Amino acid sequence: MKVLITGAGGQLGHELVRTAPADAVVTALRSADCDVGDPDSVARAITSHRPEIIINAAGYTAVDKAESEPAVADRVNAQGPANLAAAAGLARLLHVSTDFVFDGSQGQPWQTDDRTNPLSVYGRSKLTGEAPVLALGNRGAVLRTSWVYSKFGGNFVKTMLRLMASRPEVRVVSDQVGAPTWARGLAEALWRLAGRQDMHGLHHWRDAGAASWYDFAVAIAEEAAALQLLTRPVSVLPIGTADYPTPARRPAYSLLDCATTWQQLGHSPPHWRAQLRAMLLELKEDHG
Ligand SMILES: NC(=O)c1ccc[n+]([C@@H]2O[C@H](COP(=O)([O-])OP(=O)(O)OC[C@H]3O[C@@H](n4cnc5c(N)ncnc54)[C@H](OP(=O)(O)O)[C@@H]3O)[C@@H](O)[C@H]2O)c1
Repeated sequence: MKVLITGAGGQLGHELVRTAPADAVVTALRSADCDVGDPDSVARAITSHRPEIIINAAGYTAVDKAESEPAVADRVNAQGPANLAAAAGLARLLHVSTDFVFDGSQGQPWQTDDRTNPLSVYGRSKLTGEAPVLALGNRGAVLRTSWVYSKFGGNFVKTMLRLMASRPEVRVVSDQVGAPTWARGLAEALWRLAGRQDMHGLHHWRDAGAASWYDFAVAIAEEAAALQLLTRPVSVLPIGTADYPTPARRPAYSLLDCATTWQQLGHSPPHWRAQLRAMLLELKEDHG
Protein backbone atom coordinates (compact mmCIF):
# COMPACT_ATOMS: atom_id res chain seq x y z
CA MET A 1 0.00 0.00 0.00
CA LYS A 2 1.18 3.51 -0.86
CA VAL A 3 0.87 5.74 2.17
CA LEU A 4 1.39 9.47 2.59
CA ILE A 5 1.99 10.73 6.13
CA THR A 6 1.52 14.45 6.80
CA GLY A 7 2.88 16.08 9.95
CA ALA A 8 5.66 13.49 9.98
CA GLY A 9 7.90 15.56 12.25
CA GLY A 10 5.71 15.27 15.36
CA GLN A 11 5.43 12.60 18.06
CA LEU A 12 2.92 10.50 16.16
CA GLY A 13 4.59 11.14 12.79
CA HIS A 14 7.90 9.76 14.06
CA GLU A 15 6.20 6.69 15.52
CA LEU A 16 4.24 6.06 12.32
CA VAL A 17 7.43 6.06 10.31
CA ARG A 18 9.27 3.65 12.58
CA THR A 19 6.33 1.23 12.95
CA ALA A 20 5.38 1.13 9.27
CA PRO A 21 4.58 -2.40 8.11
CA ALA A 22 6.88 -4.03 5.56
CA ASP A 23 4.26 -3.86 2.79
CA ALA A 24 3.79 -0.06 3.15
CA VAL A 25 5.53 2.25 0.71
CA VAL A 26 5.69 5.36 2.87
CA THR A 27 6.18 9.00 1.97
CA ALA A 28 6.56 11.01 5.17
CA LEU A 29 6.20 14.77 4.78
CA ARG A 30 6.97 17.29 7.49
CA SER A 31 5.32 20.70 7.74
CA ALA A 32 8.05 22.26 5.59
CA ASP A 33 7.32 19.75 2.78
CA CYS A 34 3.54 19.82 3.00
CA ASP A 35 1.63 22.55 4.83
CA VAL A 36 -1.79 21.02 5.47
CA GLY A 37 -3.23 24.51 5.98
CA ASP A 38 -2.41 25.40 2.37
CA PRO A 39 -4.74 23.74 -0.19
CA ASP A 40 -2.15 24.09 -2.98
CA SER A 41 0.59 22.47 -0.93
CA VAL A 42 -1.75 19.57 -0.06
CA ALA A 43 -2.90 19.13 -3.68
CA ARG A 44 0.73 19.15 -4.90
CA ALA A 45 1.75 16.47 -2.38
CA ILE A 46 -1.16 14.20 -3.23
CA THR A 47 -0.78 14.66 -6.98
CA SER A 48 2.92 13.90 -6.96
CA HIS A 49 2.84 10.92 -4.54
CA ARG A 50 -0.53 9.39 -5.55
CA PRO A 51 -1.15 7.64 -2.19
CA GLU A 52 -3.80 4.99 -1.59
CA ILE A 53 -3.93 6.02 2.07
CA ILE A 54 -3.22 9.37 3.72
CA ILE A 55 -2.51 9.44 7.45
CA ASN A 56 -2.73 12.94 8.86
CA ALA A 57 -0.46 13.26 11.90
CA ALA A 58 -0.28 17.06 11.57
CA GLY A 59 -1.80 19.07 14.35
CA TYR A 60 -1.63 22.31 16.24
CA THR A 61 -1.29 20.81 19.71
CA ALA A 62 -0.42 23.79 21.94
CA VAL A 63 -3.68 23.68 23.88
CA ASP A 64 -3.12 26.81 25.99
CA LYS A 65 -1.48 28.88 23.24
CA ALA A 66 -4.45 28.13 20.96
CA GLU A 67 -6.62 30.34 23.18
CA SER A 68 -4.67 33.40 21.99
CA GLU A 69 -4.22 32.31 18.36
CA PRO A 70 -7.44 30.57 17.33
CA ALA A 71 -6.93 31.31 13.64
CA VAL A 72 -3.61 29.44 13.60
CA ALA A 73 -5.14 26.47 15.44
CA ASP A 74 -8.07 26.43 13.01
CA ARG A 75 -5.81 26.61 9.98
CA VAL A 76 -4.03 23.38 10.96
CA ASN A 77 -6.71 21.47 12.89
CA ALA A 78 -9.84 22.43 10.95
CA GLN A 79 -8.70 23.61 7.48
CA GLY A 80 -5.91 21.00 7.36
CA PRO A 81 -8.16 17.92 7.31
CA ALA A 82 -10.63 19.78 5.06
CA ASN A 83 -7.85 20.42 2.54
CA LEU A 84 -6.71 16.80 2.71
CA ALA A 85 -10.28 15.52 2.29
CA ALA A 86 -10.86 17.81 -0.69
CA ALA A 87 -7.70 16.63 -2.45
CA ALA A 88 -7.79 12.95 -1.42
CA GLY A 89 -9.49 11.72 -4.59
CA LEU A 90 -9.91 7.98 -4.20
CA ALA A 91 -7.40 7.73 -1.34
CA ARG A 92 -8.57 6.84 2.17
CA LEU A 93 -7.93 9.52 4.78
CA LEU A 94 -7.09 8.50 8.36
CA HIS A 95 -7.14 11.42 10.77
CA VAL A 96 -6.47 11.84 14.50
CA SER A 97 -8.66 13.80 16.89
CA THR A 98 -8.88 14.30 20.63
CA ASP A 99 -10.73 13.59 23.88
CA PHE A 100 -10.90 17.39 24.27
CA VAL A 101 -13.95 17.43 21.95
CA PHE A 102 -15.88 16.40 25.11
CA ASP A 103 -16.71 18.67 28.04
CA GLY A 104 -15.89 16.07 30.69
CA SER A 105 -19.19 16.48 32.50
CA GLN A 106 -20.12 12.81 32.24
CA GLY A 107 -18.77 10.44 34.88
CA GLN A 108 -18.39 7.48 32.56
CA PRO A 109 -16.20 6.78 29.52
CA TRP A 110 -17.16 8.66 26.37
CA GLN A 111 -18.63 6.72 23.46
CA THR A 112 -18.02 7.84 19.87
CA ASP A 113 -21.63 9.02 19.53
CA ASP A 114 -21.78 10.93 22.83
CA ARG A 115 -22.53 14.65 22.60
CA THR A 116 -19.45 16.76 21.92
CA ASN A 117 -19.00 20.11 23.62
CA PRO A 118 -15.39 21.29 23.53
CA LEU A 119 -14.30 23.67 26.28
CA SER A 120 -11.29 25.13 24.46
CA VAL A 121 -10.23 26.67 21.15
CA TYR A 122 -8.08 23.58 20.55
CA GLY A 123 -11.01 21.22 21.18
CA ARG A 124 -13.31 23.25 18.91
CA SER A 125 -10.73 23.35 16.11
CA LYS A 126 -10.24 19.58 16.34
CA LEU A 127 -13.99 18.94 16.33
CA THR A 128 -14.41 21.10 13.22
CA GLY A 129 -11.65 19.10 11.53
CA GLU A 130 -13.45 15.78 12.09
CA ALA A 131 -16.41 16.69 9.86
CA PRO A 132 -14.73 16.81 6.42
CA VAL A 133 -13.02 13.47 7.08
CA LEU A 134 -16.26 11.81 8.18
CA ALA A 135 -18.00 13.31 5.14
CA LEU A 136 -15.78 11.07 2.97
CA GLY A 137 -17.98 8.15 4.09
CA ASN A 138 -16.22 4.82 3.67
CA ARG A 139 -12.97 6.57 2.68
CA GLY A 140 -12.62 8.55 5.94
CA ALA A 141 -11.74 7.50 9.48
CA VAL A 142 -11.18 9.62 12.59
CA LEU A 143 -9.36 8.13 15.57
CA ARG A 144 -9.80 10.17 18.74
CA THR A 145 -7.09 9.71 21.31
CA SER A 146 -5.84 11.27 24.55
CA TRP A 147 -2.75 12.45 26.46
CA VAL A 148 -0.21 11.42 23.82
CA TYR A 149 3.49 11.10 24.66
CA SER A 150 6.57 9.62 23.04
CA LYS A 151 10.33 9.90 23.27
CA PHE A 152 10.06 12.26 20.27
CA GLY A 153 9.00 15.88 20.75
CA GLY A 154 7.64 17.63 23.81
CA ASN A 155 5.06 16.11 26.13
CA PHE A 156 3.97 15.70 29.76
CA VAL A 157 6.37 12.83 30.48
CA LYS A 158 9.42 14.74 29.29
CA THR A 159 8.32 17.92 31.07
CA MET A 160 7.84 15.98 34.31
CA LEU A 161 11.25 14.31 34.02
CA ARG A 162 12.85 17.74 33.57
CA LEU A 163 11.01 19.26 36.53
CA MET A 164 11.54 16.22 38.74
CA ALA A 165 15.29 16.29 38.08
CA SER A 166 15.57 19.89 39.23
CA ARG A 167 13.00 20.27 42.05
CA PRO A 168 12.36 18.51 45.36
CA GLU A 169 8.61 18.53 44.72
CA VAL A 170 6.17 18.96 41.86
CA ARG A 171 2.45 19.73 42.13
CA VAL A 172 0.12 18.12 39.62
CA VAL A 173 -3.65 18.31 39.14
CA SER A 174 -5.53 15.30 40.47
CA ASP A 175 -9.06 16.22 39.40
CA GLN A 176 -8.70 15.71 35.65
CA VAL A 177 -9.06 12.07 34.67
CA GLY A 178 -8.34 10.43 31.32
CA ALA A 179 -5.74 8.04 29.97
CA PRO A 180 -2.17 8.45 28.78
CA THR A 181 -1.43 7.03 25.35
CA TRP A 182 2.00 6.08 24.01
CA ALA A 183 2.28 7.42 20.48
CA ARG A 184 3.96 4.18 19.43
CA GLY A 185 0.84 2.15 20.27
CA LEU A 186 -1.33 4.79 18.61
CA ALA A 187 0.79 4.52 15.46
CA GLU A 188 0.44 0.74 15.47
CA ALA A 189 -3.34 1.14 15.83
CA LEU A 190 -3.38 3.47 12.83
CA TRP A 191 -1.45 0.94 10.77
CA ARG A 192 -4.00 -1.72 11.74
CA LEU A 193 -6.73 0.69 10.71
CA ALA A 194 -4.92 1.32 7.42
CA GLY A 195 -5.11 -2.40 6.72
CA ARG A 196 -8.85 -2.49 7.38
CA GLN A 197 -10.70 -1.04 4.44
CA ASP A 198 -14.00 -1.93 6.12
CA MET A 199 -13.35 0.38 9.08
CA HIS A 200 -14.37 4.00 8.63
CA GLY A 201 -16.11 6.72 10.62
CA LEU A 202 -15.40 7.63 14.23
CA HIS A 203 -13.21 5.54 16.51
CA HIS A 204 -11.56 5.89 19.92
CA TRP A 205 -8.07 4.74 20.89
CA ARG A 206 -6.07 5.13 24.11
CA ASP A 207 -3.96 2.89 26.31
CA ALA A 208 -5.77 0.67 28.83
CA GLY A 209 -6.58 1.89 32.34
CA ALA A 210 -7.36 5.37 33.59
CA ALA A 211 -5.45 8.03 35.48
CA SER A 212 -5.42 11.59 36.72
CA TRP A 213 -2.47 13.75 35.70
CA TYR A 214 -1.33 13.31 39.33
CA ASP A 215 -1.45 9.48 39.02
CA PHE A 216 0.48 9.77 35.77
CA ALA A 217 3.13 11.97 37.38
CA VAL A 218 3.51 9.59 40.35
CA ALA A 219 4.02 6.70 37.93
CA ILE A 220 6.59 8.73 35.96
CA ALA A 221 8.52 9.43 39.17
CA GLU A 222 8.42 5.76 40.27
CA GLU A 223 9.22 4.20 36.90
CA ALA A 224 11.97 6.74 36.14
CA ALA A 225 13.54 6.12 39.56
CA ALA A 226 13.45 2.35 38.97
CA LEU A 227 15.33 2.89 35.68
CA GLN A 228 17.68 5.41 37.31
CA LEU A 229 16.53 8.13 34.94
CA LEU A 230 15.89 10.07 38.16
CA THR A 231 18.49 9.78 40.85
CA ARG A 232 17.08 12.14 43.51
CA PRO A 233 13.83 11.60 45.42
CA VAL A 234 10.96 13.86 44.42
CA SER A 235 7.60 14.43 46.09
CA VAL A 236 4.57 14.56 43.82
CA LEU A 237 1.74 16.51 45.44
CA PRO A 238 -1.88 16.52 44.24
CA ILE A 239 -3.51 19.89 43.58
CA GLY A 240 -6.88 20.93 42.19
CA THR A 241 -7.48 22.46 38.76
CA ALA A 242 -8.50 25.64 40.57
CA ASP A 243 -4.97 25.84 42.04
CA TYR A 244 -3.36 25.67 38.60
CA PRO A 245 -5.14 28.14 36.32
CA THR A 246 -4.40 27.73 32.60
CA PRO A 247 -5.64 29.75 29.60
CA ALA A 248 -7.55 26.74 28.20
CA ARG A 249 -10.27 24.90 30.11
CA ARG A 250 -9.84 21.15 30.13
CA PRO A 251 -12.43 18.40 30.66
CA ALA A 252 -12.57 16.96 34.19
CA TYR A 253 -13.26 13.45 32.90
CA SER A 254 -12.30 12.62 29.33
CA LEU A 255 -11.74 8.85 29.38
CA LEU A 256 -12.56 7.50 25.93
CA ASP A 257 -14.57 4.29 25.67
CA CYS A 258 -12.55 2.24 23.19
CA ALA A 259 -14.24 -1.15 23.54
CA THR A 260 -15.75 -1.16 20.05
CA THR A 261 -12.58 -0.05 18.29
CA TRP A 262 -10.39 -2.47 20.24
CA GLN A 263 -12.78 -5.28 19.34
CA GLN A 264 -13.02 -4.32 15.67
CA LEU A 265 -9.26 -4.02 15.33
CA GLY A 266 -8.84 -7.33 17.16
CA HIS A 267 -6.27 -5.72 19.40
CA SER A 268 -6.34 -3.94 22.74
CA PRO A 269 -3.37 -1.98 24.06
CA PRO A 270 -1.42 -2.74 27.24
CA HIS A 271 -2.10 -0.78 30.44
CA TRP A 272 -0.80 2.78 30.26
CA ARG A 273 1.73 2.12 33.02
CA ALA A 274 3.33 -0.71 31.04
CA GLN A 275 3.48 1.56 28.00
CA LEU A 276 5.07 4.32 30.09
CA ARG A 277 7.70 1.87 31.33
CA ALA A 278 8.48 0.82 27.74
CA MET A 279 8.84 4.44 26.60
CA LEU A 280 11.11 5.30 29.55
CA LEU A 281 13.24 2.26 28.76
CA GLU A 282 13.70 3.63 25.24
CA LEU A 283 14.74 6.99 26.67
CA LYS A 284 17.27 5.26 28.92
CA GLU A 285 18.69 3.22 26.04
CA ASP A 286 19.00 6.37 23.91
CA HIS A 287 20.95 8.09 26.66
CA GLY A 288 23.27 5.12 27.12
N1 LIG B 1 -0.38 15.41 21.98
C1 LIG B 1 -1.52 15.02 22.57
O1 LIG B 1 -1.62 14.92 23.80
C2 LIG B 1 -2.72 14.68 21.73
C3 LIG B 1 -3.90 14.26 22.36
C4 LIG B 1 -5.01 13.94 21.59
C5 LIG B 1 -4.93 14.04 20.20
N2 LIG B 1 -3.77 14.47 19.62
C6 LIG B 1 -3.74 14.60 18.18
O2 LIG B 1 -2.80 13.67 17.66
C7 LIG B 1 -2.21 14.19 16.47
C8 LIG B 1 -0.70 14.09 16.56
O3 LIG B 1 -0.30 14.82 17.72
P1 LIG B 1 1.23 14.84 18.22
O4 LIG B 1 1.18 14.64 19.68
O5 LIG B 1 2.07 13.95 17.39
O6 LIG B 1 1.57 16.37 17.92
P2 LIG B 1 2.95 17.10 17.76
O7 LIG B 1 4.06 16.29 18.35
O8 LIG B 1 2.73 18.50 18.23
O9 LIG B 1 3.19 17.09 16.19
C9 LIG B 1 2.36 17.79 15.34
C10 LIG B 1 3.08 17.92 14.02
O10 LIG B 1 2.22 18.64 13.14
C11 LIG B 1 3.04 19.48 12.38
N3 LIG B 1 2.31 20.61 11.83
C12 LIG B 1 1.89 21.74 12.47
N4 LIG B 1 1.31 22.57 11.58
C13 LIG B 1 1.37 21.94 10.38
C14 LIG B 1 0.95 22.29 9.08
N5 LIG B 1 0.34 23.45 8.82
N6 LIG B 1 1.18 21.42 8.07
C15 LIG B 1 1.80 20.23 8.31
N7 LIG B 1 2.23 19.85 9.51
C16 LIG B 1 2.01 20.70 10.54
C17 LIG B 1 4.12 19.96 13.33
O11 LIG B 1 5.22 20.38 12.57
P3 LIG B 1 6.13 21.62 13.05
O12 LIG B 1 6.73 21.16 14.34
O13 LIG B 1 7.09 21.80 11.95
O14 LIG B 1 5.16 22.77 13.24
C18 LIG B 1 4.40 18.69 14.13
O15 LIG B 1 5.43 17.97 13.53
C19 LIG B 1 -2.76 15.62 16.33
O16 LIG B 1 -3.85 15.58 15.46
C20 LIG B 1 -3.25 15.95 17.73
O17 LIG B 1 -4.29 16.91 17.72
C21 LIG B 1 -2.66 14.76 20.35
